[in-house]
Amino acid sequence: MVVLGIETSCDETAAAVVSDSGILSDVVYTQTVHEAYRGVVPELAARAHAEKITAVTREALARAGVERPDAICATTGPGLIGALLVGATFARSLALGWGLPFVAVNHLEGHLLSPLLERPAPSFPFLGLVVSGGHTTLYLARALGEYEALASTVDDAAGEAYDKVARALSLGYPGGPLIDRLAATGDASAVTLPRPKLKGSDDLSFSGLKTAVRQRVESGLYRREDVAASFQEAVVDVLMDRVMRAVERTGVTQVALAGGVAANSALRARVVTLPGVTAFVPARSRCTDNGAMIANAGRLRLLAGQRDPLNTPVRPNWPLERL
Ligand code: KG4
Ligand code: ZN
Repeated sequence: MVVLGIETSCDETAAAVVSDSGILSDVVYTQTVHEAYRGVVPELAARAHAEKITAVTREALARAGVERPDAICATTGPGLIGALLVGATFARSLALGWGLPFVAVNHLEGHLLSPLLERPAPSFPFLGLVVSGGHTTLYLARALGEYEALASTVDDAAGEAYDKVARALSLGYPGGPLIDRLAATGDASAVTLPRPKLKGSDDLSFSGLKTAVRQRVESGLYRREDVAASFQEAVVDVLMDRVMRAVERTGVTQVALAGGVAANSALRARVVTLPGVTAFVPARSRCTDNGAMIANAGRLRLLAGQRDPLNTPVRPNWPLERL
């Protein structure tokens, strides 16, 4: 089955073609219009998606050598409502025009199942750490559509914390890759930072860490690269602590990373050293938002018999536990 997947939930306009033999094409356009604002401006995102979606989709089909796929999938949530509407409406229109089945994909399920596109791939059940700009949750993925959140952030997402710390360090946007690069030249033990823990819960909190970093920066006592490296180490420590607790609690030893922050060098390097764990780390380009992960999740749902009506609404808030 040849599936076209369309993703426009935030600031990437993406389309990809995935078949039974793997990814045939994966085209991602990252919007640049937000850079001046150091954060995504929803209305500008929607407009830029509307401008690019046709060209990006054409390119994905052309690169795959496919004129017409067998089915069309699109992200219908969670995400920015205007941005979601562009991709979902475009995809549903294509499905209507071509008379093809349509599947509505949850963006978080796209991330969580993205490690299945890699070789070797994890098999169910596995622990999936979804760390992105909007979400940070450790899931137990039991089977397609059966996901249990074991630990979630109660405030900032990991990527959001990266972006805010980058702002404190006067770096650009998005901050994650810039901190990652700066941290490579810093000393992770130079700045003492907290590893926030919530009483009686495995949930995560990054806001205290973010504030502590801001104070260290404002003190003027530390080198920027040392702050970046120490912050990065604290984030990785906190995330890996929850992963190890989940491994002990569930007995599941396959751990997969997903989401934009999974592109982080320190996180990728650490997860493969966890004792007793088999780690699955997707290619960097498959961590940040892309169409292949949407086509992949949609394809698995199509194979399971799912078809969604063309009037399926977009859902800006759509928890993965309620699919
Ligand atoms: O998954 P994603 O592309 O979009 C959302 O669904 O949110 O994640 C974007 C987030 C941004 O906050 C960005 O700063 C972060 O992923 N990110 C990184 C790295 N690359 C992207 N964070 C840390 N290290 C990186 N190398
Ligand atoms: Zn994402």
